[in-house]
Amino acid sequence: MNLTVIGTGYVGLVSGTCFAEMGNTVTCIDVDTKKIENLKGGIIPIYEPGLEAMVRRNIENKTLRFSTNLNNHLQKCDIAFIAVGTPMGDDGSADLKYVLQVAKEIGLHMTNPLIIVDKSTVPVGTADKVSATIQKELEKRNVDIEFHVVSNPEFLKEGDAINDFMKPDRVVIGSDDQKSTEKMRTLYSPFFRSSQDRLITMDVRSAEMTKYVANAMLATKISFMNEIANICELVGADVNKVRIGIGSDSRIGYSFIYPGSGYGGSCFPKDVKALKKTAEEHGYKASLISSVEEVNDRQKLVIAQKVITRFGEDLKGKTFAIWGLAFKPETDDMREAPAIYIIKELVQRGAKIQAYDPKAMKEAEHFYLKDMKGVTYCKSKYDTLKNADAMILLTEWKEFRSPDFEELKVQLNTPIIFDGRNQYNDVLMTERGIEYYQIGKKLNNH
Ligand code: UDX
Repeated sequence: MNLTVIGTGYVGLVSGTCFAEMGNTVTCIDVDTKKIENLKGGIIPIYEPGLEAMVRRNIENKTLRFSTNLNNHLQKCDIAFIAVGTPMGDDGSADLKYVLQVAKEIGLHMTNPLIIVDKSTVPVGTADKVSATIQKELEKRNVDIEFHVVSNPEFLKEGDAINDFMKPDRVVIGSDDQKSTEKMRTLYSPFFRSSQDRLITMDVRSAEMTKYVANAMLATKISFMNEIANICELVGADVNKVRIGIGSDSRIGYSFIYPGSGYGGSCFPKDVKALKKTAEEHGYKASLISSVEEVNDRQKLVIAQKVITRFGEDLKGKTFAIWGLAFKPETDDMREAPAIYIIKELVQRGAKIQAYDPKAMKEAEHFYLKDMKGVTYCKSKYDTLKNADAMILLTEWKEFRSPDFEELKVQLNTPIIFDGRNQYNDVLMTERGIEYYQIGKKLNNH
């Protein structure tokens, strides 16, 4: 099929490239000229394993193109995907200005019957707004062209997005038009080699809601487990054991019950807030969803609190080695990363920070921690340890999993680890003579 994907952010770029990989002809559109020029040369603006090679391969195969000009491509295309950003507005709701701008452009330029797909995460009712916006433009032009707006939310995980797209757990298609549903089914069928059961079709509003509910459910599991971790510490239980104990029940399962420093990223924080807001707009007080958010905000500072308990309220003269800045491994994304909040808290109290992350240091230095004084970025994880009073692990990158603990002890002023992702075994740490703090277990050695 001939596809146009509007918006070359995370979702748009991954989706467009994967559709091209599956043999479709795809044009990705963006208003950012520089970004498009780079993409034409195979330079991608984000770090995502496997994506750059796939973009280059498809540019060479002529299945993937990039352009700033939407109207040239609309005429040739079967399906147009809207994958522009929906930033969080001041009141916590999703801001639809970019989505509706694109809808207007489509209405202004379309010449043939078209399926328009909302791939951006948008609140329930957005497809109707997109539809109305396009219709208004067509009426202004005095033309009557058939079009249908479909909701096809994205469930990609950063760091594993290619795999998620090429071998999806499920694809949700929300459409109130049978022909559009069938066309979408044809587009996605090649992604399901064995069973088509996971291609789930439904009405538009239910599909729009599904995305928010999936993310809110996963965020709820994490916040629930973080709350349990805090209670475990108080009652002398070990959350790592409790996690395995409950996960063995297949109704609960092992995934997304890892306690830590809270969830971050571009989706969970924004989507939980937006769902709460949607409920409020309809006169419903979503208490559970509000608590998920509240627990997460608190959890981001639990590790900082442990540092303060150990070193005192005033951290002047103290230096901390930070391992990991990204909100999770395999990405350079720092949106809502716990590291931002923890570093701010420690710096405000006078501490100096020596940080290392395999991919996110540029993001931190030039954007998220731009004006933060007292933060030094180091070339390696071991470089952060020199003259530091403790190491604080915040992102569970593989290279942090089994470091040279002897080197760590030699370099640190005092052999102390605060582990915000429960990566190490507390018994082994004690045997090695390391003072070790983690989430959800009060340790015997302090
Ligand atoms: C998430 C959803 O997984 C994806 O389906 C959706 O499309 C977008 O949002 P992503 O934000 O890339 O994807 O990351 P994910 O791997 O889901 O992790 C989100 C956050 O939860 C991270 O900060 C992670 O550290 C945290 N997390 C995850 C936990 O704290 N504990 C867990 O058990 C799992």
